[in-house]
Amino acid sequence: MADAPLNKAKLAVFISGAGTNMAALLFASRLKDAAFEIVLVASNVEDADGLNLAAIEGVPTFAHSHKGHSREDQDAAMEQAVLDAGADYIVLAGYMRILSQGFVERWEARMLNIHPSLLPKYKGLDTFARAIDAGDSHAGSSVHLVTHELDAGEVLAQVRVAIASDDTPATLAQRVKIAEHQLYPRAVADYVSRGNDPEFLFSKLRELALALPETHERSSHGSPGFRVGTEKSGKFFAHFSQQHHGSQHIAVLVKTSGMDELLNLVETQPEVYYKPDYYGASGWVGLILNRPNVDWDHIADWLGRSWRSSAPARLTKLLDAADIF
Ligand code: GRF
Repeated sequence: MADAPLNKAKLAVFISGAGTNMAALLFASRLKDAAFEIVLVASNVEDADGLNLAAIEGVPTFAHSHKGHSREDQDAAMEQAVLDAGADYIVLAGYMRILSQGFVERWEARMLNIHPSLLPKYKGLDTFARAIDAGDSHAGSSVHLVTHELDAGEVLAQVRVAIASDDTPATLAQRVKIAEHQLYPRAVADYVSRGNDPEFLFSKLRELALALPETHERSSHGSPGFRVGTEKSGKFFAHFSQQHHGSQHIAVLVKTSGMDELLNLVETQPEVYYKPDYYGASGWVGLILNRPNVDWDHIADWLGRSWRSSAPARLTKLLDAADIF
């Protein structure tokens, strides 16, 4: 299963120059069991070196010069190419254009960038000279999510590079590049694989479950779960299930209204729901978390509903009065 091409995340990589980070990503994508493939290399510079390298490797390329175009028009042309290529993610690798707000919003959480500093230090340009001038012991590089604020999105991974006493910005830049070529493929692979990572899925689930009133975490039969009420007399409203009894699913088990609803859900949406062993007999349904495009609002709705059917009357009454879910 691991290297079934269907499961690979599809990346569009944007470059403006040499494209050595793009090349690192591209060759990483050719290794066995790679988590991603590159479906497009796009540039605002028609003769960018990286385009040539991609073409030699048989990767589709697209170039559209920004000159004489508004930012919005440039972004629209690039975005159309990305959509035509069927990419799931955009990976910026030395793309020297600021992106328009609408574009950034549409690709929120699906667009990554690499920046040659240890963010939050030295956003913007001349990062190496600034690190040397400041007398820093280390420079480095960061991979982060792209948000409307320049170089300010969540940092996903970093690598440190020691600064030598005789370093110039140029000598330091060379070593940081080598480090970047290790960092970017790994950070991208980890990010696009999060949907199959039990630790990541559980931390998202925990955040939602513990945001509900008077809840706490408790394990049951070796699996973590969440209860509502006091530590002493609380009741479970969610169980986390990680590939139990040979099942491939990572899931949260929540309470349905009963067997009719459970069976109906499983029959009509088998890609989302399943009947878990043991708990299924008492009306708990498995809501699959390790599937593409999980809608976390939908998970939160189910947690709220399950919470409500387990919470003591003193809590649900309060919520009814306040008209909260
Ligand atoms: C990299 O140093 C990256 O951190 C920055 O632009 C540079 C791109 O280099 N955003 P290359 O084109 O990948 O060689």
